[in-house]
Amino acid sequence: MAIAGEPCLSLRFNEPKECVAMAMINILGFGGSRRKGSYNSALLRTAAQLMPDGSRLEIHDISNIPMFDPEQSSNPPRTVMDFQDAIRKADGLLVATPEYNYSVPGYIKNVFDAASLPAERNPFPGKPVALLSASTGMLGGARAQYHLRQVFVFLDMIPVGRPEVFITFANQKFNENLELRDENSKELIRKLLFNLVSLSKKLKSPD
Ligand SMILES: Cc1cc2nc3c(=O)[nH]c(=O)nc-3n(C[C@H](O)[C@H](O)[C@H](O)COP(=O)(O)O)c2cc1C
Repeated sequence: MAIAGEPCLSLRFNEPKECVAMAMINILGFGGSRRKGSYNSALLRTAAQLMPDGSRLEIHDISNIPMFDPEQSSNPPRTVMDFQDAIRKADGLLVATPEYNYSVPGYIKNVFDAASLPAERNPFPGKPVALLSASTGMLGGARAQYHLRQVFVFLDMIPVGRPEVFITFANQKFNENLELRDENSKELIRKLLFNLVSLSKKLKSPD
């Protein structure tokens, strides 16, 4: 039975007038920075508008996740448990990170550390993930992305390889309302989202 508003995958052999509803692919986005005018937070909002048909992006606020404390790792704070649950439920993740001092800001690294424990609540293994970054510099956050990819190895996540989306000179590509005005950047983001959703779909229903 088709669900109203949902795209159809194929016609059933014995029910030619109905089609099988395709499962919606749910992507969880997080990152950005604590800065009010963050270009990386704006990137997540842009991505939400560019999601492929049959998928949606929910942006999770990580600003309330406290600094990871190993003493509390067997009994994480409520905000961390909610974040773990949201990741577990999502079919894939989209992370938008700034670059600080040639690496991942502590703010972003902290949420991976905090959510990875206790081991039985670690939602990361096997989770598809794609990366975005924007910086005012000429490498667009590339070094932060490569450092995060190293974290994904230990967490056993499945990163999307290409395209790499590094928004360089971000202050020239967003307008004063923090809307991305660069069509080439938008096209790259569209391709990255398409690849993330395709991978998430494949891993959700391998057949
Ligand atoms: C502490 C600090 C370190 C930074 N280091 C880098 C850097 O290594 N590479 C870079 O491209 N930009 C660097 N920047 C500039 C950021 O790219 C710029 O502030 C960007 O707007 C941050 O992302 P946001 O807009 O999401 O807050 C740095 C900024 C700060 C505040």
